[in-house]
Amino acid sequence: MPETCTLQVEPTTLKSPFSYGSMLGVVRAMREKAASGRGNQGQISNTLRALVIHGPNLNLLGEREPEVYGRTKLRDIDRELKRLGKELGLTVDTFQSNSEGAIVDRIQKARGRADLILINPGAYTHTSIAIRDAFAAIAVPVIEVHLSNVYKREPFRHHSTIADLAVGRIMGFGAESYYLALRAAANLLAPKGT
Ligand code: DQA
Repeated sequence: MPETCTLQVEPTTLKSPFSYGSMLGVVRAMREKAASGRGNQGQISNTLRALVIHGPNLNLLGEREPEVYGRTKLRDIDRELKRLGKELGLTVDTFQSNSEGAIVDRIQKARGRADLILINPGAYTHTSIAIRDAFAAIAVPVIEVHLSNVYKREPFRHHSTIADLAVGRIMGFGAESYYLALRAAANLLAPKGT
């Protein structure tokens, strides 16, 4: 576990082109359309789906700079996310790639299929306009996750290309950042007014 812990949640109401409330409505409508297109009589699964995307070098978690990123391996994080998802009533799919194009493809594939995406874009956080554009294109709410507190690190890590599109950003808690983000996702997706 890294020594610094920061919870930074930035509602997007001022900066984002879409509010996540309306985005959730769009996501549900798209899922319905996709389901009818697949010929299953317009039935959609009631299960809420969260997709977790891990960017470059995160496959090396546990071995890679453990003093910064902790000692938990990616497969253990994924296993815990799936377990926690069940507890929270979410189906969790996970995906890791070292390639920017593969991450863009996976984001596009989530259109109409995922209700929310958690992403740790790794180093692409600071550089990728393609990943930003993919999120803008699919209008699925996104939570940005980082193991380390990037603001305690080099200045080039302070910029994120998706920060203003994200519903919120959670960083600095090591593997726990992902679990906090999944809890936030479940809260966000829960039916309101009950
Ligand atoms: C990271 C922070 C990035 O700056 C870095 O390139 C990573 C991991 C994090 O989880 O703390 O690969 O996203």
